[in-house]
Order: sequence, then structure tokens, then C-alpha cells
Amino acid sequence: MEQTASLYPKDQKEMYALLKAQMKAVLEGERHVIPNLANASALLDGALQNINWVGFYLKHREELLLGPFQGKLACMHIAFGKGVCGTAYSRGETVLVKDVHQFPGHIACDCDSNSEIVVPLFRHRQVVGVLDIDSPLLARFDETDACELEAIARIIENSCDWSELPGLQ
Ligand code: SME
Repeated sequence: MEQTASLYPKDQKEMYALLKAQMKAVLEGERHVIPNLANASALLDGALQNINWVGFYLKHREELLLGPFQGKLACMHIAFGKGVCGTAYSRGETVLVKDVHQFPGHIACDCDSNSEIVVPLFRHRQVVGVLDIDSPLLARFDETDACELEAIARIIENSCDWSELPGLQ
């Protein structure tokens, strides 16, 4: 979203090292999914440059439902297997899209988005939701981002008590 001078290191590895330490510190002491995902999205939004949307979709009954996020209004319901989010959910793996206009079935929520990464969140090896990040730049995310965002997803999963989330089963 709005770009201000970043206080985070320019070096990608150093930036992620600081972000991971902050994520652990911010989520420590709270187990509820909603406040944790709300603050996780705010922290990611402040740390990652050149993004226009960051947030979560959560498994709710037989679809993905919009969760906490930072960015413009977004679609609230995504079917399993549909769009980048539903694809990451169904495959149970990260989907890195360099150009969303080339991704069949991409769901356009913010027309500024040109690239996207979606990382699944797991509980007991079942996908409980996804972390979705959009960028106005083409090819904004690389393999290092994928690897580091997966590490951040592990921190988030382990900080939350998923059993309290309605509609997960
Ligand atoms: N582009 C996503 C939809 C969610 S928005 O980007 C916030 C998709 O194709 O699943």
C-alpha cells in the first residue's frame, strides 16, 4: 500500500530475519486466530515494500472466507481450487505468480495487482487457510520470498489456537 520510507533493512535476508523476530514477539501471549492474523497482516504490510494487499483467507465450511487483511475491499468467498488462493489451498503448497494476467482463473480484487504469492497455513497437516500477498509490480516475489513467507506462516500457525475457529471442521 502507501509507500513510506522503510525502517526495515534493504537486504532481503536481513529484512526477513527482523520480520520473523517481530512476528514471534507480536504474536506471543495471544492464541486467538483473529487478533493474531489482524496484527500479522499489519506487520507484513509495514515490512514488505511494493505490495498493495496482504491478508488471509480461512477455511470456513466448504470454501475460503475472507479474514483479516490490509488493503482495498476484497472478495469474501473463494471456492476451493479457484483463483490463486483456492489453488494454493487445494494443492497445499505455495503458489507464486509472476504475472496474474497469465494465471488461468485469477480472481482480480484490486485491479492494481500484477503479481501475487499465496502461502498455505496448516494445522495437523490440514490446510486451515492461506496468506495472500499482492503487488502492483510484475514478478515482485521470488523463491527467497516464498521460502521466508513459508517460515512466517509456520510462526503464525504455531501462535494460534485453531480449534476455536468456527467452520473449520
Ligand atoms: N487474487 C486472489 C483473490 C484474492 S485477492 O487478491 C485479495 C485469487 O486469485 O485467489
